[in-house]
Amino acid sequence: MQLQNRKILIGITGSIAAYKTILLVRLLVKAGAEVRVVMTAAARDFVSPLVLSTLSKNKVESDLFEGDAWANHVMLGRWAELFVIAPLTCNTLSKMVHGQCDNLLMAVYFSATCPVLVCPAMDEDMWHHKITLRNVNSLKADGVHFMPVGNGELGSGLFGEGRMAEPEEIFQTVYGLVKYPEKPLKGKRVLVTAGPTFEPIDPVRFIGNHSSGKMGIALAAEFAYAGAEVKLVLGPSNANFPGGMEVIRVQTAQQMYDAVLESFAESDIAVFSAAVADYRPADSRPSKIKKVAGVPQEPIVLAENPDILKTCGKMKKMGQLVVGFALETDNEAVNAQQKLRDKQADLIVLNSLKDEGAGFGVDTNKVTIFDKNGQETALPLLSKHETAVRIVNAIINFGS
Ligand code: PMT
Repeated sequence: MQLQNRKILIGITGSIAAYKTILLVRLLVKAGAEVRVVMTAAARDFVSPLVLSTLSKNKVESDLFEGDAWANHVMLGRWAELFVIAPLTCNTLSKMVHGQCDNLLMAVYFSATCPVLVCPAMDEDMWHHKITLRNVNSLKADGVHFMPVGNGELGSGLFGEGRMAEPEEIFQTVYGLVKYPEKPLKGKRVLVTAGPTFEPIDPVRFIGNHSSGKMGIALAAEFAYAGAEVKLVLGPSNANFPGGMEVIRVQTAQQMYDAVLESFAESDIAVFSAAVADYRPADSRPSKIKKVAGVPQEPIVLAENPDILKTCGKMKKMGQLVVGFALETDNEAVNAQQKLRDKQADLIVLNSLKDEGAGFGVDTNKVTIFDKNGQETALPLLSKHETAVRIVNAIINFGS
């Protein structure tokens, strides 16, 4: 699980956007995180503490004192690896800037030793007010991380900027901050290919393969979380991809080749996880081939597609790292190592269709990473996310 046993403290302030924080808590708990929640009194008017305590499996804290007992804000702030204030109102933003410690949430903020991520939510006029801008800049200068606000329908019924970020986006940022606090790939440009290619026979039919794009998308996401500037060249895939990266959509191997060559020279790391068709119909028909009586006698003549990885392996300059994939069914290790040499890659990631749970479509993979120095790392069957984590770490270690 992505956030297994990681300790996340959620602060909720009084905004209608608080309903989204319920979903955020659910996502965090599902990812294995330990979640605790602090709410202001105003927040309790918008969402029920009972919902949050049920989802987080922890008592929700709101008051500095309960009867004759004192809530230990110092320990809450020290317990957490990350404190996420979502939503952040204009009022709480101002208190954070001016040191106004008049509730438990503020006491936790002022005693927290961990990084803080805030997710503003306010009406557009408040968000654009010069005092808000000044306060935001002041908190950013203090090292507080900000989620960008969204544009759309606001609590007032008006449309504009100021919507709290969506729970999935906040979750991704939380993951990146917790997993890679040092951002080891900051300043690096990473190019990733993913998904299948579709080679048209006519406007209706194509030659393709079963790649879903999941492996490559997981890799691109992991690079982005580690701080890299990521370009994902993605073939026809229905898989969801997160924000925080540039995505270039392509259909054919030739289009993928063109898109990759446009960016390869400026990339520090290039990972080729796409399942690219080696051949395409030599003359794709402009109109649908009509059904005729009997099997068509005219064969589909194939032409060779450019080998994107091989081209980049040849072009590679000092300091650039090229990583290929090898999808095999027989004689796997030998074939993968042959591809590593032929395509002049630095590393190659082998997956075999003989391994149950590996390869196309599924959410898991089982890979072995070979590097050009003869090092071999066999990984067990893991989720594609965890496989991506291991591959990114192998790349970081190889490059350093
Ligand atoms: O997308 P998923 O459903 O998550 O599945 C993931 C995956 C199985 C597609 C992925 O893990 C994988 O193995 N990708 C490589 C598939 C492949 O085409 O392997 P290959 O052995 O045929 O190609 C070797 C390498 O050359 C690959 O890096 C490939 O991207 C590259 N290549 C191949 C042909 C070509 N014309 N251009 C290329 O760049």
